[in-house]
Amino acid sequence: MSHSPQQSGRQRIAVIPGDGIGHDVLMVAREVLEAAARRYDLSFDYDTFDWSCQRYADTGAMMPEDGLDTLRGYDSILLGAVGWPGVPDHVSLWGLLIPIRRAFRQYANVRPARGLAGVDSPVRGAEKMDLVVVRENVEGEYSEIGGRFNRGLPEEMAVQESVFTRAGVSRIVRHAFTLAQGRRRILTAATKSNGIVHTMPFWDEVVRDVAEEFPDVELELMHIDALSARVVLDPSRFDVIVGSNLFGDILSDLTAAVSGSLGVAPSANLDPSGEFPSMFEPVHGSAPDIAGQGIANPVAAVWSAAMMLEHLGHPDVAAHIMRAVEASLAEPATRTRDLGGTATTEEAGAAIVELFEKV
Ligand SMILES: NC(=O)c1ccc[n+]([C@@H]2O[C@H](COP(=O)([O-])OP(=O)(O)OC[C@H]3O[C@@H](n4cnc5c(N)ncnc54)[C@H](O)[C@@H]3O)[C@@H](O)[C@H]2O)c1
Repeated sequence: MSHSPQQSGRQRIAVIPGDGIGHDVLMVAREVLEAAARRYDLSFDYDTFDWSCQRYADTGAMMPEDGLDTLRGYDSILLGAVGWPGVPDHVSLWGLLIPIRRAFRQYANVRPARGLAGVDSPVRGAEKMDLVVVRENVEGEYSEIGGRFNRGLPEEMAVQESVFTRAGVSRIVRHAFTLAQGRRRILTAATKSNGIVHTMPFWDEVVRDVAEEFPDVELELMHIDALSARVVLDPSRFDVIVGSNLFGDILSDLTAAVSGSLGVAPSANLDPSGEFPSMFEPVHGSAPDIAGQGIANPVAAVWSAAMMLEHLGHPDVAAHIMRAVEASLAEPATRTRDLGGTATTEEAGAAIVELFEKV
């Protein structure tokens, strides 16, 4: 089956709420999707899966053995958050998220961050920020190659290899250039070729090769340390930033923090070819400290659902949802507590739906 971005009609969505606030925020995302379906004559079929740390605690596995085969048949995957105290984070990551990203070749992790009225940032100038971090999602520093030696002895050592392939780097860089072409046409590539002497010079070389296909986009290569400082000092100067798996991971949490709250940071794990389903999830985790209280901010999940619609070929519907989200954030009464508002998750969601129907 194809998962081509241009398809329309009935779409099958696999919903994985996961743990903690993942349940609350995906409930709202679905309500907003349903409002969009009514307004635009779209149709979504949802199947919900209980794959989570709770399932791990009960059965010893985050998902069933044939979990990936099950997901293969869906058009998209909506994920809440996985992780829970008592289950090591590497279990939830390597038992669910990473297998999905890798099996479905979701090599592009796309995380937009922008200044939103009503969301205070700790950083000056962040209200004008409008950038997208594109993170390489399936190779690089997060590899299983390496090992431990002489465990427990004074001379114990650990080696972890990074894997950078020409195919892997070219496709993520090409994706980032293409995205920049539709925006302000500036691409910043994160590097560290002054310190990491094999993989990073190779990364730079491939970035420059791909740049030749995009003469209309301005390219800058910036060392990750200087780039992180610039994101804090002058966030609005960036348009699209592309980074390896590790650099992109850290940068996108930084840009989420600069935007003012984790509760508003969305992400997409894309297979841009459309051969496999892509996965959409808020950047935040399961927030055990507020789980069950009904106060989680649903905006990151709703924005992630909007990114899903964009990927499925409905950018106009996605933009409509974002207008409603922005209108809801502008009012303290419809903002959740993390943003200084008073709304519960449910109230914030209801406001987004109501505004969606109006704006
Ligand atoms: N992709 C994922 O599923 C993902 C991502 C990050 C963390 N995690 C997991 O989640 C668990 C908790 O991790 P953590 O506490 O480091 O990060 P977290 O993102 O869950 O929470 C960090 C802080 O931000 C707040 N917060 C997060 N989302 C919010 C929202 N929507 N509304 C209001 N406040 C929000 C939390 O209350 C908490 O104070 C861990 O097990 C971790 O592994 C999962």
